[in-house]
Amino acid sequence: MFTFAPTDGQPKAELHADLLAAATALTDGEPDGVANMANLAALIWEYLPDLNWAGFYRMIDGELVLGPFVGKPACIRIALGSGVCGTAAATATTQLVPDVHAFPGHIACDAASRSELVVPVIRDGAVIAVIDLDSPSPARFDEDDARGIESLALAIASRI
Ligand code: SME
Repeated sequence: MFTFAPTDGQPKAELHADLLAAATALTDGEPDGVANMANLAALIWEYLPDLNWAGFYRMIDGELVLGPFVGKPACIRIALGSGVCGTAAATATTQLVPDVHAFPGHIACDAASRSELVVPVIRDGAVIAVIDLDSPSPARFDEDDARGIESLALAIASRI
């Protein structure tokens, strides 16, 4: 049994630090990328409040393909440049979207999603996946969340 869990009322900076520590510990020494992505999605879900979707899309043959996640069933394939995930992957930059309805081409996998954070996972200079977080609350994510998930992406890039 794993006992990774946040404490009630923890400040956001601590949540991200603890999420990073838990993610690093849980994936340490495990070579299977699918197992690691599954546990990472579960950890993100556990540590960050107010999410309705958390998971991975993997870059396969030039398009994004759904990976392990927590949330409702989602779109399976996303073209590069399409939607928030495809934009993050095509530009290799974090997409912080306070209002998904205002994002041109946003792909609505879950109608409940109101804001979104997508962070590319980069290995050897190439985008190999994106981490996608959705929230039912508008403007749920801020720069601290973006930096936190970017640190996570950097830490796990060689483990997925
Ligand atoms: N909203 C995303 C699609 C993936 S789902 O949110 C799980 C997008 O616009 O790329």
